[in-house]
Amino acid sequence: MLRTHTCGELTIQNVGQSVTLSGWLQRSRDLGEVIFMDLRDRYGITQLVFNAQVNAELCEKARPLGREFVLQIKGKVAERSSKNPKMPTGDIEIIVDEFTVWNVAQTPPFTIEENTDGGDDIRMKYRYLDIRRSPVKEALLLRARVASAARSYLDEQNFVEVETPVLIKSTPEGARDFVVPSRMNGGEFYALPQSPQTFKQLLMVAGMDRYYQIVKCFRDEDLRADRQPEFTQIDCEMSFIEQEDILNTFEGMIRHLFKKVKNVTLESLPRITFAEAMRDYGNDKPDIRFDMKIVDMADVVGGKNFKVFDDAGAVLAICVKGAASYTRKQLDELTEWVKRPQIGATGLVYMRYNDDNTLKSSVDKFYPEEDLKKWAEKCKASAGDLILVLAGDASKTRKAMSELRLEMGSRMGLRDKDTFCPLWVLDFPLLEWSEETNRWHAMHHPFTSPKPEDISLLETDPGKVRANAYDMVINGVEVGGGSIRIFNKELQAKMFGILGFTKEDAQAQFGFLMNAFEFGAPPHGGIAFGFDRLCSLFGGADSIRDYIAFPKNNSGRDVMIDSPAPISAEQLKELQIEVKKV
Ligand code: AMO
Repeated sequence: MLRTHTCGELTIQNVGQSVTLSGWLQRSRDLGEVIFMDLRDRYGITQLVFNAQVNAELCEKARPLGREFVLQIKGKVAERSSKNPKMPTGDIEIIVDEFTVWNVAQTPPFTIEENTDGGDDIRMKYRYLDIRRSPVKEALLLRARVASAARSYLDEQNFVEVETPVLIKSTPEGARDFVVPSRMNGGEFYALPQSPQTFKQLLMVAGMDRYYQIVKCFRDEDLRADRQPEFTQIDCEMSFIEQEDILNTFEGMIRHLFKKVKNVTLESLPRITFAEAMRDYGNDKPDIRFDMKIVDMADVVGGKNFKVFDDAGAVLAICVKGAASYTRKQLDELTEWVKRPQIGATGLVYMRYNDDNTLKSSVDKFYPEEDLKKWAEKCKASAGDLILVLAGDASKTRKAMSELRLEMGSRMGLRDKDTFCPLWVLDFPLLEWSEETNRWHAMHHPFTSPKPEDISLLETDPGKVRANAYDMVINGVEVGGGSIRIFNKELQAKMFGILGFTKEDAQAQFGFLMNAFEFGAPPHGGIAFGFDRLCSLFGGADSIRDYIAFPKNNSGRDVMIDSPAPISAEQLKELQIEVKKV
């Protein structure tokens, strides 16, 4: 080996030992007589010392060494006179006797230290340099620990890791597919999987019983901080189970991951229904680190000639504890905030419950104090609280209130990154109506089973049918979702019918699955976790990007390898593809 130790392991115990280290020169401080250098590798940083009084020739040779040169040094471990308690190796330094330059390096385009001066684009272009920085490196190490902990839990539970193909077939449900042209089958295309959904169900028909895979999935959708075009799932499926078994097994997994990775012991996960989540939090992935539930004010605001409330589809409030001291200026700013197009509210009504027990609202003209008392009661407000009210179209107002609730949670410091509040959201609707396509779409996917007691509604009132589908949500992030599957060919065919497939379409698209169901499909169900999202949550970051070694930017580009890129005319010809410039 080209080293006896790593740059992260030498301590006061090693003083006096002769050692060999290899790594990158992070920085050098030339004080004339003495040169200090920081040598870095994956494990840490060790201080090197060249002393002209001890070895003038070596000191001169070392003086020109530049940032990020790759070095091997041999020397003796010595106790530092000024120690650095922040570094594991901060008590020692190496008095260098000799060194070898393995490689020189150009001056890096940004500083490779904890806090860099590099913007996003330049860091992505030189991602291999960015990964040398401790926060990015630590994110990748954390990712590896999460993967390893997930594997050990699932292996222990008798799950088998099976790989499924990456070149599959495009299907019309879900997000847009990425497609790959086939040279050997001119004019035909593979699709990259949005998830291994159908394959894992086929593995259940095949009798694998408990499957998992840490697997790449591909979705051509608009990108956000928590969405990448290629991302990773911990994808799982089980046979001969009911919803309760899945919830217990994967609650066990998440508890295991938190213990192993964060040393956090989780309480058992609360469960709420989709309907309750929408009612209390205005969305299906509630952040329950704080309460501030949405209150329907309809029965305490009506009939006072305040048109905004009287004409509204919904009048919703939140009670912000301890915020009565919000100034007029802050409330005006908040009003502007809710009126932004992303939030879409038309205005904001507020009521202060002052410390002297007086109640003051922005609509005093319509609501005297005895009415405001009812508001306060309804919202369980007490002295010092602020009530915020939005009114308008029911679904838009609920959505806007959900955003306002999160914003107030952040402003009041209630969304601490080191507090983890996971929960299950259950009983999602099976179907959602799309105005765009004028038909029903599967809310989860077409293989999700309706609740047996709701099957009769399929024909009469499809929108009311609930599914045996569940999401795991942590701190307002959907980290996983799954369902109990349909395993009966007739019910599956009926489902395709409701989704607007003709028999022929269904057969052409999903015949392989329906045919497989004719050969003895067991009752089965599963779940997939967004692995990148889990990692960024563990790491306390908002974006999943730093938890992916080589991510794409917001336009779906890899700026390091400059992809996507045109291909040669020859390749196009071979693939029988004509590209027309627009
Ligand atoms: P679903 O589509 O809900 O379910 O995906 C499962 C989880 O994957 C994560 N996720 C993403 N993460 C990063 N970037 C993306 N573009 C992205 N899209 C989804 C989310 C989500 O909860 N086959 C089903 C699972 C099943 O039924 O078993 C599926 O893929 O955290």
